[in-house]
Amino acid sequence: MLNGVSGAGEKPRVLTGDRPTGRLHLGHLVGSLRARVALQESHEVFVLVADVQGLTDHFERPGVLRRHIPEVMLDYLSVGLDPAKVTFVQQSGVPELAELTMYLLNLVTVSKLRQNPTVKTEVAQKGFGAAVPAGFFIYPVAQAADITAFGAQVVPVGEDQLPMLELTREVARRFNLLYGGEVLRAPQALLSASPRLPGLDGNAKMGKSLGNAAYLSDTQAELRRKIMGMFTDPAHLRASDPGRVEGNPVFTYLDAFDPDVARVQALKEHYRAGGLGDVVVKKHLLDTLEAELGPIRERRVGYAQDPQAVMKLLRDGTARGREVAAGTLTRVRAALF
Ligand code: TRP
Repeated sequence: MLNGVSGAGEKPRVLTGDRPTGRLHLGHLVGSLRARVALQESHEVFVLVADVQGLTDHFERPGVLRRHIPEVMLDYLSVGLDPAKVTFVQQSGVPELAELTMYLLNLVTVSKLRQNPTVKTEVAQKGFGAAVPAGFFIYPVAQAADITAFGAQVVPVGEDQLPMLELTREVARRFNLLYGGEVLRAPQALLSASPRLPGLDGNAKMGKSLGNAAYLSDTQAELRRKIMGMFTDPAHLRASDPGRVEGNPVFTYLDAFDPDVARVQALKEHYRAGGLGDVVVKKHLLDTLEAELGPIRERRVGYAQDPQAVMKLLRDGTARGREVAAGTLTRVRAALF
């Protein structure tokens, strides 16, 4: 039994999470939420509401995080994460994670962090320039602490998070090598099967900060407006013109949401040949999305009626999560001191 947390016959443990810096959108649904809902049947799933990590780029606006914690909880519950199967943990309620971060920081060099491709991209996006806050700079190590404190065997991630997992594995191995035994577990990445969802504007990424997202919490009317206004092939002016399918986000969304692959294929061929208007394709996309989002919206309404109960799920989950992390930290301290 490694880590004192998982023995024979027990379900493998998963940790995932999100910074509560905004509402969750279709990109999250395709990229990770669907996988979490599937995993909850076969795995012990912990979902981290990563407010401490959220501070690394929102330290001047902690109110943004406070406001979004209940929203993100509703997003989780509405997509079908089952509170009987999933443990929701508020990161700031588990100070052991910060303690483990301190120990792990010794095992990583500054130059290694500087080379982290995910951090590099984010530093450029956020416009920090040369003034990168130290807290942001070391967040990959804090994330390694999250993963190892929970003893996660599996971390479902998108491709952009792979360097984080590699770092976690290195740090865990290094810790064990230096301080003896099998104290920290090196996790496996579970790569998302679906490619990244582009933004409504055709940008490569749907992002809450990019203003090009359709949210799980959007009303039917909002979703309609967004889908009907989506970027398509700018050269496809008349329905009779041949259109481009590649790089056309309407078709990328159909690939991600329409289970009828043959039908999507037929639509693509018709669009390429000419004679299929954007409005018709968008209406089909809207119907397809509604089939999945309708039930999500309904479940959200149900949970939203009792915000206290929703926050209690988070409080109770945090207490359970803290026990797990505290167990790891007891072993970590025993190895160190
Ligand atoms: N990095 C994730 C995000 O940007 C949040 C996160 C924090 C996380 N700790 C984690 C994800 C541990 C997986 C595992 O939203």
